[in-house]
Amino acid sequence: MTLQGIRTFACLLMLPLAGLAAADQGRELAARQGIPHPAVIAHRGASFDAPESTAPAYLLARELGADYLELDLQRSKDGVLVAVHDDNLQRTSDVAERFPERKDSPVSAFTLAELKSLDAGSWFNQASPERARQRFKGLQILTLDEVIDIAEGQPDKRPGLYIETKVPSLFPGIEADLKARLQARGWLDTPGRVVLQSFDRNSLALLHKEMPQVPKVLLLWIGKGSIEPASGQSFAESGETDKAAFYARQQPRDKAEFERWLDYAKDAGAIGTGPSAALTAGGAQSYADLVQPWMNQLSHDKGLLVHVYTVDEDVDFAKVMAAGVDGIFTNRSGQLLRYFARPPVQNEVQILEAQGY
Ligand code: G3P
Ligand code: CA
Repeated sequence: MTLQGIRTFACLLMLPLAGLAAADQGRELAARQGIPHPAVIAHRGASFDAPESTAPAYLLARELGADYLELDLQRSKDGVLVAVHDDNLQRTSDVAERFPERKDSPVSAFTLAELKSLDAGSWFNQASPERARQRFKGLQILTLDEVIDIAEGQPDKRPGLYIETKVPSLFPGIEADLKARLQARGWLDTPGRVVLQSFDRNSLALLHKEMPQVPKVLLLWIGKGSIEPASGQSFAESGETDKAAFYARQQPRDKAEFERWLDYAKDAGAIGTGPSAALTAGGAQSYADLVQPWMNQLSHDKGLLVHVYTVDEDVDFAKVMAAGVDGIFTNRSGQLLRYFARPPVQNEVQILEAQGY
């Protein structure tokens, strides 16, 4: 029987996965949810080549052929859902010049009109001059609806959405608000078109209550509010200055502690986890290695998919895939698609220029 035949048969009967080879377990779990395998998840869009969570970042990820556009969901003062990662707007906008007295305030302190008045692109030109573009200047923060418009904007390229509730304790009711928008846009009808994610178990459970049919992923890391470290120390308590080096040494307290979090994920309705990775070159995105082969095997044995964050280099793509993950959050969708032998027809520069940037 072909793999597709096995998949269909197992799907129909919901056979136990134990008889499948390790690599096929994840593929089978993904197929049951309508999730591509291995999944290419464009982390805040194609955010290596364009300012994160802006129109060119999402347009580029779509045109490259990413399976999902990833976004961090927050809510404006007047109740509009927007895509912003950080707890405040300082790193990715000119809020300090525009609203100096509120520069440290959360996103929820700004109306949509105020958020839209910010320049969410020029910071990228300063931070990454080798990839700077004049047209990035003045880019706006996007609403959820605008990200949906981009995802729907090209009939030949139909990425899904991979939506994280960010600091959900600041936004009571955001899970119901999200359901209302996704339903209004007709995005809840196709299995696997949307995946929901959170570090917050309570928010994940609320998402499950609102949208039981939509796949959900519990994000994992080592630290406060997530997996207890064997060292018993947080990065701040350690007094160290190299965050990546600190996290690279961190392990869960024991196997039972890791397993406890897999069980939390299942209890909250998740079909998978989103663990951190330790990156070969270190850097700001490098955290504890929570995709060791035994961890991925245990996750699969419990019926959970594994989508690792945030990996951008071939050496690390190879490492996490060999360890058995089922998808990768990446800032470099093009690089990952090439690694998976799904090369984009046009490169990043060609696409950005064709899109007017
Ligand atoms: O959502 C997966 C990954 O994005 C989690 O980390 O901080 O980039 O949202 P963060
Ligand atoms: Ca995220």
